[in-house]
Amino acid sequence: MKIAVVGAGYVGLVTATCLAELGNDVICVDRDHGRVAVLHAGGVPIFEPGLDDLLQRNRSAERLRFTASMAVAVRHAEVIFIAVGTPPQEDGSADLQHVLAVAAQIGQHMTEFKVVVNKSTVPVGTGRRVEQALRSALADRGLDALDFAVVSNPEFLKEGAALDDFMRPDRIVIGLPAGEAGEAARRLMTRLYAPFNRNHERSLWMDVASAELTKYAANAMLATRISFMNEMAHLADALGADIDAVRRGIGSDSRIGHSFLYAGTGYGGSCFPKDTRALVHTAAAHGLRMRLVEATESVNRLQKHVLVDRICAHFGADLRGLRLGVWGLAFKPNTDDMRDAPSRIVIPELLSRGAQVLVHDPVALSEAQRALSADLGHPVSEMDGLSFVESPLEALADVDALLVLTEWKCFHHPDFDAMARCMRGRVIFDGRNLYDPALMDALGFVYQGIGRRGLLKPAQPVDARPAAGATPLRPDAQSAPSPA
Ligand SMILES: NC(=O)c1ccc[n+]([C@@H]2O[C@H](COP(=O)([O-])OP(=O)(O)OC[C@H]3O[C@@H](n4cnc5c(N)ncnc54)[C@H](O)[C@@H]3O)[C@@H](O)[C@H]2O)c1
Repeated sequence: MKIAVVGAGYVGLVTATCLAELGNDVICVDRDHGRVAVLHAGGVPIFEPGLDDLLQRNRSAERLRFTASMAVAVRHAEVIFIAVGTPPQEDGSADLQHVLAVAAQIGQHMTEFKVVVNKSTVPVGTGRRVEQALRSALADRGLDALDFAVVSNPEFLKEGAALDDFMRPDRIVIGLPAGEAGEAARRLMTRLYAPFNRNHERSLWMDVASAELTKYAANAMLATRISFMNEMAHLADALGADIDAVRRGIGSDSRIGHSFLYAGTGYGGSCFPKDTRALVHTAAAHGLRMRLVEATESVNRLQKHVLVDRICAHFGADLRGLRLGVWGLAFKPNTDDMRDAPSRIVIPELLSRGAQVLVHDPVALSEAQRALSADLGHPVSEMDGLSFVESPLEALADVDALLVLTEWKCFHHPDFDAMARCMRGRVIFDGRNLYDPALMDALGFVYQGIGRRGLLKPAQPVDARPAAGATPLRPDAQSAPSPA
């Protein structure tokens, strides 16, 4: 089938590549000429495991092309996917300007029936707004009678496992408009997704509003599980229980399941934070409060400060003279995505308290440099006390403590002897609960996980540090459970 995918980001590139892999003739269009140039030159502008190989294979087979021209893409396709960003606005609502701009552009170029599929995460009612934008662009060209269907097909892929998620979806949610155009869309979408439904039917057909809401409901539910576990971890710390044992204890209940039950430094990424806020905003616009989702969000906001609170409880609030190593910057492993990553809260806080910070991430170093520079308002450098280093051990050179922020596989079984030799203090604040507290103890590390029994005692003052007892820089700091 002839497909266009608008947006060559995490969702658009994966969608375009996977649909090409199934034999479709796909054009992926992005307004960012630089991004398109990278793709033309054989590069891939994002990090997603396996994407590079699959993309090159389909490019070589001429099933996948890239362009910056909407006219070319719209002329080519019978089905057009919109996969552009829907970032949060100041008030938490989703910014639909990119989605609506694409809709208008489709209307400026189409000359025959098209199925327009919204893959971006958009609030309920956006399908109708896309339809209006398209209709108005057609009317401007005197093509009022030209028909089209706007379908909602939210994407549930996870960055880091995106190809597998796309190729082997749990379900495919498809919201159809009523009427003849909707039926025509059903036929095309049935054909397009037939390869995914060979083993059993995975497509769930519904109306557009329900499909749009399904995406937000899924993300809110998953985010809530994480915040629930983070709160439970605080209680476990206070009670001397182990949140990992609790996690296994509840996850093995088939009504609960094991996914998304890990306590940590809070969720980040391009979806959960913005989608929970957008859901709260949508509800408010309809006179409703989503108290549970609001709580999920506020627990998460505080959770991103937990490691710094604990470092301050251990070393004191004034971190001048302290050297800290950080492992992991991306919001999760197997991606270079820095959107709303906890590291963007933790690192500026450590710097503002005077610490020197050495950071390492297997793939996100340059994205992190860009994101932290944007956050700090100037190109970040060693002048700020921040060094980006190429290996995990370099990040431990003479440090007083290590913070683990992302659970990259390569951090799971490090050489603890080599670490101990590099570090000046053997203290680990593990924001991802990668290590066994008993093993850490046996190896002579002072170890603090999240909800893994007991809290560290305040450290003896480090000689090299100034004695000044600075007041906390963040007045709203959550009162971390007092050190045991
Ligand atoms: N990233 C994820 O894991 C994920 C998962 C599920 C759903 N989503 C949703 O999918 C949508 C896209 O997310 P993403 O992470 O891929 O975003 P992204 O920022 O990585 O990519 C968006 C791309 O769209 C392009 N774009 C913007 N306006 C355009 C226009 N008018 N014409 C052509 N291209 C345009 C941008 O240049 C960019 O390359 C969002 O709504 C997001 O919430 C994302």
